[in-house]
Amino acid sequence: MRHQVVLIPGDGIGPEICRAMRRVLDAAGAPIEWEERIAGAAAVERYGTPLPEEVIDRIRERRVALKGPLTTPVGTGHTSANVALRQALDLYACVRPTRTLPGVPSRFGAVDLVIVRENTEGLYSGIEHEVVPGVVESLKIVSERACVRISEFAFQYAVACGRRRVTAVHKANIMKKSDGLFLRCARRVAERYPQIEYDEVIVDACCMRLVMQPERFDVLLTDNLYGDIVSDLAAGLVGGLGVVPGANLGSDCAVFEAVHGSAPDIAGQNRANPLGAIGSVAAMLEYSFGLREEAAAVQRAIEQVLESGHVTADLKPKGTPRSTSEVGQAVCELI
Ligand code: NAI
Repeated sequence: MRHQVVLIPGDGIGPEICRAMRRVLDAAGAPIEWEERIAGAAAVERYGTPLPEEVIDRIRERRVALKGPLTTPVGTGHTSANVALRQALDLYACVRPTRTLPGVPSRFGAVDLVIVRENTEGLYSGIEHEVVPGVVESLKIVSERACVRISEFAFQYAVACGRRRVTAVHKANIMKKSDGLFLRCARRVAERYPQIEYDEVIVDACCMRLVMQPERFDVLLTDNLYGDIVSDLAAGLVGGLGVVPGANLGSDCAVFEAVHGSAPDIAGQNRANPLGAIGSVAAMLEYSFGLREEAAAVQRAIEQVLESGHVTADLKPKGTPRSTSEVGQAVCELI
């Protein structure tokens, strides 16, 4: 049986990264059929919208997509197609496992944490308006339903993956209503999982503890904004944005993508690190299709490449770095 996957190459470094992902899937012998669709800046040029309705429909039908990053203009222009896609497909759980990797120099030796981020509401609801000139309002929408289901997800994930603790990240000392609701829901769900420790940390203190003792964290349960920020911080602890995989999961569909953005500063130069994206491919193989052996082979190859030191410039401040395509090729050969 061949599995159908929608592929969105994306903007900036997306197409280079996606080429590497496709080669890796071929090398792994995964029975995958691609259907390529355009979203992001490229779609704005062609269709006048960053997220054509047809892209959403195709993913709904196929249920699984692999995605490159999509550029969102800063402070102006169209709203984020990434956020819109997650909302349209109700991909409510963003999962980003972040751990110390072999051969990657970092300040910490044993980081092994997973960020479980609510992906559909909060300050990313996209409801903003100008109240009067010079005063704007951005609404933080928080619903009990979304808080309960992301908390459930985090605890179920912890149980399924042999994790010992879930830490809720919040700012309920200031945002008493919205983050207060988030915490009440998390506590309620925690009671049903006595085998998993539960604690809470205010987001600012969480950032400090992350850069001092990241080894102490296990599963971090966050809202949309804190999860976005903390994910990049955590990536910085283990080698940077180029190495961390991710998944956006809902009840019906799953969209896999690395944590990083479109990196316009290095786009088109064959310099981007494809390993985070390739890690997302491994996650897709296992989670969506149950192809455990193939996923394990991809994961092993990623680690062997890292150990070999034949890596892209982001991981190699000294010496001659490898290109995106060379690193992709090395992974394929090791598989
Ligand atoms: P970014 O993640 O694109 O880049 C931040 C820094 O990390 C840059 O210096 C970049 O060169 C480096 N970097 C990122 N990925 C890398 C890789 N694979 N290998 C080597 N270096 C890498 O974040 P930035 O610059 O804030 O955002 C650029 C655009 O990407 C924006 O339009 C933003 O909205 C979008 N974005 C899209 C995401 C998505 O599609 N899921 C996620 C984050 C940002």
